[in-house]
Amino acid sequence: MDQIDKVLGADAARRPDMATPVAGPAAGMTAGADRALLPSTDRPRILVVANQKGGVGKTTTAINLGTALAAVGERVLIVDLDPQGNASTGLGIGRNERKVSAYDVLIGAALIEDAIVATKVPGLDIVPSTMDLLGAELELASVPRRSHRLRDALARMPRHGKQRDTSEAETAATARPYSYLLIDCPPSLNLLTINAMTAADAILVPLQCEFFALEGLSQLLRTVERVKTSLNPRLDIQGIVLTMFDRRNKLSDQVASDVRSHLGDKVYRTVIPRNVRISEAPSYGKPALVYDHRCAGSKAYMKLAAEMIQRERALRKSAA
Ligand SMILES: Nc1ncnc2c1ncn2[C@@H]1O[C@H](COP(=O)(O)OP(=O)(O)O)[C@@H](O)[C@H]1O
Ligand SMILES: [Mg+2]
Repeated sequence: MDQIDKVLGADAARRPDMATPVAGPAAGMTAGADRALLPSTDRPRILVVANQKGGVGKTTTAINLGTALAAVGERVLIVDLDPQGNASTGLGIGRNERKVSAYDVLIGAALIEDAIVATKVPGLDIVPSTMDLLGAELELASVPRRSHRLRDALARMPRHGKQRDTSEAETAATARPYSYLLIDCPPSLNLLTINAMTAADAILVPLQCEFFALEGLSQLLRTVERVKTSLNPRLDIQGIVLTMFDRRNKLSDQVASDVRSHLGDKVYRTVIPRNVRISEAPSYGKPALVYDHRCAGSKAYMKLAAEMIQRERALRKSAA
């Protein structure tokens, strides 16, 4: 039984073997491809946005935090690892622009830089997802380093991603290396999420202010601990962000203070309010920050980005 089975439980070991189409440019390049070998300044900070619950604001956070970080001059790559592809759709990436996707990268049929698509937000790119990802878990079942597929792919990625021959503004944006990678996960603790956790430096957990929030959180934190012991000792908890906070609802307040008393300063001071403009934006293929930068939700995501940058600076300082 390999490490992934320890994390996911014995069921993972009983998955049927399949003829796995792991071939192409990335095949056979996994040995020694370990980001830990690179100097830390050479690497973007990799954050996995995860919570096994659906509808808690993972994708919304990946899109809008990514946009806010790009707006203040960071260069950001979102990796869409959810077969639903909501991050891709929400950033206006049509099906015809997803010729190479996260699936191709995971099975080793493509290099990650060939999957990168620019969004309309300068400085923000995405590796889009397609429904093919639904099959990835089975297809990877018998592949070596199946929980390290994303990590290995990122280790081989040039720091700048792909140089594109487009407008001047975009060339200026792409001249810089990525500083942040945000991985958007499916609502489950499956092999895709495990790949994201194995590739990441830290996990960012959006937590909806509702009654069962804490219960789900302890299961998630147990998984993080297991990934830490068996797959990625570096994995840290970057932060918990409270989402869909409703001022008029007493329960929101109670959940927020419960979470704070359990997790202390891991919980961001910035709280994302429930805001209708945020939920409207994806249907226009735009981040809320572009759709209506003055709405309360957009302002909250800008504040979250500022708080995150501050937190990251403090971390780097204490590590130096
Ligand atoms: N702060 C918010 N206010 C209002 N609606 C929100 C907010 N955050 C997310 N939503 C909406 O809630 C739904 C679920 O959010 P989403 O980010 O897709 O969750 P997840 O990725 O965790 O499944 C989406 O329709 C989204 O537009
Ligand atoms: Mg989502």
